[in-house]
Amino acid sequence: MKRNILITGGAGFIGSHVVRLFVRKYPEYNIVNLDKLTYAGNLANLKDVEDASTYRFVKADICDFERMREMLREYKIDGIIHLAAESHVDRSIKDPFTFARTNVLGTLSLLQAAREYWESLPEGYAGKRFYHISTDEVYGALEMTHPEGVEPPFTTAASSGSYHLAYGMEFFREDTKYNPHSPYSASKASSDHFVRAFHDTYGMPMVVTNCSNNYGPYQFPEKLIPLFINNIRHRKPLPVYGKGENVRDWLYVEDHARAIDLIFHEGKIADTYNIGGFNEWKNIDLIRVLINTVDRLLGRKELEDLDLITFVKDRAGHDIRYAIDSTKLQRELGWEPSFQFEEGIERTVRWYLENQEWLDNVTSGEYLRYYEEIYANR
Ligand code: NAD
Ligand code: DAU
Repeated sequence: MKRNILITGGAGFIGSHVVRLFVRKYPEYNIVNLDKLTYAGNLANLKDVEDASTYRFVKADICDFERMREMLREYKIDGIIHLAAESHVDRSIKDPFTFARTNVLGTLSLLQAAREYWESLPEGYAGKRFYHISTDEVYGALEMTHPEGVEPPFTTAASSGSYHLAYGMEFFREDTKYNPHSPYSASKASSDHFVRAFHDTYGMPMVVTNCSNNYGPYQFPEKLIPLFINNIRHRKPLPVYGKGENVRDWLYVEDHARAIDLIFHEGKIADTYNIGGFNEWKNIDLIRVLINTVDRLLGRKELEDLDLITFVKDRAGHDIRYAIDSTKLQRELGWEPSFQFEEGIERTVRWYLENQEWLDNVTSGEYLRYYEEIYANR
């Protein structure tokens, strides 16, 4: 079936994997990637699909309501996968306004534009879908409830989660109460509420997913994994917040993209799904794995770079533990992660080591100047 799908934030980390998957898997769809190209957006992430005849890039700000209205009509959009956001917690602590603007007002602008357009069509909302991509951070922080002497990593078989269940550990479930702590998570929580309110008030056919920490190629090197891989390579200090005790639940980005594909097509309207890998790691243990992997792949002595670890002042309001229960998604739609953590990390480290030029461009701001010139001349 022919469809016209808008993916927002498609030049970012997760968005670029979603665009790539959709362009390749659905040649019968038209895919419009709308992105403002902030510091985090990079069209070089999409070089391998940018020439596809079914792919279009639109440089625009989701907060520009008039532009959103025109664009939805121009491309006759019938499905929206909304990823565009400010996504880095540390930046939100320094500049919360930008997060409220993009994540809250930008989402509202897109919702209202979609509502106006779809309600103006003879068929109304039939066959339409607004898919909002959110985060597990909206739920706040979990206690470290595992028994004395039982420590993460908890990389249980993705399909069972039995380790956690056996120890009675807490998870984020779809009905967990929202309790965001950072300006980033507060802005994402607010956007989730707006999306649900548009369903309850206007009948907008929407779905929301809340995912755990993603890792993999094309992630901006301000986030833990790419930042630390690059620093280890160049023997720069690794700034570990607090004591490195915080726990995150890591999912390989392509598994998230596959879940998005499945939920976009088969998820129940007005429903919420949690997405996660049953793969919890304490930061300090994960960092050791990164050091070990980088050193091995560069032919250095085992754990030679352990002394790069530098404990620094903790992040304000730093959530101690995130862990997602994704059994609903598994039970209802049959999704489970396909990458074991060892394989995902090996691929990821190799990718950053082999793509130093990408990292250098991103960190130098070179790519921003390059694409500004290209779009100024169009
Ligand atoms: P990212 O920062 O890598 O990419 C965000 C993209 O949005 C960039 O391309 C940027 O240019 C674009 N953008 C920002 N403001 C915009 C605006 N006003 N108008 C149009 N485009 C704009 O983020 P990411 O890590 O790929 O995250 C994508 C989405 O997934 C976000 O909504 C985030 O909250 C969510 N999420 C991320 C993770 C994770 O671990 N990275 C986990 C769960 C959910
Ligand atoms: O849980 C999903 C969220 O995961 C997404 O919604 C966010 O967009 C994404 O950025 C990520 O948030 P985190 O804050 O968990 O990711 P980050 O990579 O910034 O940090 C991971 C952990 O590592 C966290 O406990 C903070 C710590 N950290 C991070 C950095 C950048 C350090 O100790 N030192 C660092 O320099």
